[in-house]
Parts: sequence; C-alpha cells; structure tokens
Amino acid sequence: MGKPANIFVCQSCGSVHGKWAGRCDACGEWNTLVEEIAAQNAPKGNKRKKSRGIEFVDLGGISEDLPRIDMGIAELNRVTGGGLVPGSALLIGGDPGIGKSTLLLQAAGFTAKKGIKTAYISGEEATAQVRRRAKRLGLADSPVHLAAETSLGPILDGLMENKPDVIIIDSIQTLWSDQLGAAPGTVAQVRACAQELTRYAKKRGACVILVGHVTKDGQIAGPRVVEHMVDAVLYFEGDRAGQFRILRAHKNRFGPTDEIGVFEMGESGLSEVENPSAMFLDGRGEAASGAAVFAGLEGTRPVLTEIQALVAPAAFGTPRRAVVGWDSGRLAMVLAVLEARCGVSFGGKDVYLNVAGGLKINEPAADLAVAAALASSVFDTPLPADSVVFGEISLSGDVRAASRTDARLKEAAKLGFKRAIAPAQKSETQKKPNNLLPLIAIKTLPELISRVEAFAEG
Ligand code: TYD
Ligand code: MG
Repeated sequence: MGKPANIFVCQSCGSVHGKWAGRCDACGEWNTLVEEIAAQNAPKGNKRKKSRGIEFVDLGGISEDLPRIDMGIAELNRVTGGGLVPGSALLIGGDPGIGKSTLLLQAAGFTAKKGIKTAYISGEEATAQVRRRAKRLGLADSPVHLAAETSLGPILDGLMENKPDVIIIDSIQTLWSDQLGAAPGTVAQVRACAQELTRYAKKRGACVILVGHVTKDGQIAGPRVVEHMVDAVLYFEGDRAGQFRILRAHKNRFGPTDEIGVFEMGESGLSEVENPSAMFLDGRGEAASGAAVFAGLEGTRPVLTEIQALVAPAAFGTPRRAVVGWDSGRLAMVLAVLEARCGVSFGGKDVYLNVAGGLKINEPAADLAVAAALASSVFDTPLPADSVVFGEISLSGDVRAASRTDARLKEAAKLGFKRAIAPAQKSETQKKPNNLLPLIAIKTLPELISRVEAFAEG
C-alpha cells in the first residue's frame, strides 16, 4: 500500500482538499491552500512521553513588574504606554521611507547611552549606511551594537552570546530562516522569524522591536500573522512628502491604544511636535465658512478630518450633488432632514461635499459634522476653529450619541481642540477626566442650526 498523500488545508476557512488548487472551493478565497503533513505520514514511534504537567497558580498572586525602559522620546514612550516592557515584542509598521529606521536608531542611541545594552540589526542597510545616518543624527558616539545580517540563525546565536536588553530588527521582511524552503519576505518566513524572535524575547527577558513595511493597501506585508504574536503593534503614518508623522498604537498589551505620538522630520532626524494643533490648523488656514472638523474613528483609531461643504445657487436647471469621500445617499438624507426639520432649503442649489486629505469616511457619526458644514456654508458663517463635531442624525432630526465618545474627545484634545459640538453623553453627571473637552451638547438638529446662526451674530 502506498503512503497516503499529504493534505491541503485552506488557511482561510480550514477546509481540507486532496490536491492543491489556486482557489478554495469551500470559501472562494484565492491562494489560501497550504500543504500539511497528513496525520498518517507523521513520523511514527515517537509516542508522547509523560511530562511533569503544568503548574496552576491563582490570579491574586504577586508578580513583580519590571521597570519599563525609557526610550528618551516622550511621544514614543507615551504610545508604548510608558516605555518598553522587558520580555516583550513590539512591531512598528509603516510605509517605506516614513522614518521607522530613523526613529528606532534615535531610540537605540538613547538607550545605549543610558547604559542599556542595545543591538540594532539591519537587514536592509549596510553598516556604513547606518553609521552615516547615526552621524547625521549626532549618535555616532553612542555604544549601540550594530550588525548587518538577514539570516536568523547567526542573529539568534549572536544575541545569545551578546545578551542585549533591547534588540531592534530592521526589518522583519528581510529576515530568513534556513529551516524553511520559502523565500525571504514570504508569509511563512516572516511568521517563522517573528515567532523565533518573540520566543527569544520572552525567554531572555529582552525587548525585541520588529520593523515591518506596510504594503500599498495598508497591510503589513506578511500581514496579520505577526500582529497577533507580538505584544504591541504601532503604526507610523503620515504624508511622506510632508514633514509630519503620527505614531499610533494599534494593539498594546501593556497600555492604551488610543494614544498618538506626533513627530516632525527635519535635517537631524525626528523631533517631537509639542503643539500638534498648530500643525493641524496650519494646513487648514483661516476659519472659512463651510468647514467642520469631524472627530471620527478609523477602525478603532480616532482620526480628525476636515469636512468641507459648498452650497451655491445652481447654474442650470437640475441642482448638482457632488460628494467626495462620503456616501451620497447619506448626504441626501442629511439634506432631507435639514429641509424637513429645520426649514433650510436646498432647492435650486448645488451642494458639494468633500472630505479633505482624500480620506473616505463611512461612519454615521459624520452626519452632524456634515450638517454643521452645510449650515455653515448656507449661513456663510465659519464654525469656531477650535471645535470638533460628531454625532449621528436620525430621520426625526434627533442627534444620537456616537460610539467611543471619549476616544474622539481625547484625540481632539490631543490635537489642540478646545470644545466639541456633539450629542450629550449618556450620563452627564458622570465625572469626566479633565483631559477631555467641554461639550456643546446638541440634542436635535434645529438646535445645531440655531447654534450656527448664533455664531453668525457673534
Ligand atoms: P527612514 O527612517 O529610512 O524610513 P523607513 O525606515 O521607514 O523606510 O527615513 C527615510 C527618510 O527620512 C528619507 O527620505 C530621508 C528622511 N530623513 C530626513 O529627512 N532627515 C534625517 O535626519 C534622516 C535620517 C532621514
Ligand atoms: Mg528603514
């Protein structure tokens, strides 16, 4: 009898196939079938030996918290929840050229100078290139242990011998393990290397920072497979052409995920931005009518964007409704509610709506910001420049609470805004932390309209 063939398992739905195919019949996903050793083919004769078992403890026990490692960059410390945690792994993702290597070299320079043994392993740049960058950043005299290597075996051996406390791997996509047949950068390699390094960090109490490049569609290449392994995932984002960068925590086992760090890329590396509102309002210019700042959520992450509206007399018979970055059906609804409940007429007028910065918003909480921008344009009155707007509008004209109000307010406060035009929070008596913003509580859409009219009168 011949040996049974290996099986092919879909990595998306888990269904088992007898032979490889480009597409899984069961779930329709492409390129998800992976060969696995059939149980019958597994090496025989190694029957599991009886182990000593696991030891159970209770939740109330005392475990000593190791002190966090200060990285010398306040914004970076904040996003990690107060510094690096020994025995943990961290992933920093971002587009190529956004400044990940620069940020981490600056952090490494600081920790090494403080006497914490720090290793910087570059798989992308030669040591000469990293040295040149270090010189430019004024870190040439910092005792960082630098190496250029892409093979996992020598890296782990080197770490075992050298025993650094902070290890920076730039980047995880360049690493490869000779235990695997797959090419560097493939999901299998990225996963295997990240797993080995994470295990090393836990075992030795070191802190491993992995750099990961993000693909065009915003995924870390070799993507989610690494995210669940590490203790924290940070994203470094921003416009590569511009000089500002935002670092966001996407996941953090040791701290909050709604903190952001703001940086400016300059001649001598990244510097922290002390007053982010200045940078944000800089692009916005003078308070103009028809603009409202929406405090939104992108997935779980709060993001502020400017919503611009223009209401103008229609040049031709049928008025135009043009929308960029938002749902046109939703705009029609907000216009209808404004007409029916507030008596603001859009008949015979063109309406243009634009979300600045090319973002696409699909959150109902943007309703109130859209309504505020429209009203501001209709009454030709700028909204206060220091306020953000959010809230969902129902057909009756009521304004409903948005999810995660605190996260939005926190982000707005972080970016320098002073107040929020938003639905009243469920329990207004609840004592709020004073880093949140005062609310201009709006219960119905007519209330918003009278507010905007009041701004016109000063
Ligand atoms: P880098 O850290 O290499 O990006 P990543 O590792 O995310 O790919 O940053 C590269 C960019 O930063 C590059 O375009 C040059 C710019 N830069 C400065 O403007 N000033 C500096 O001091 C440094 C070191 C880089
Ligand atoms: Mg780099």
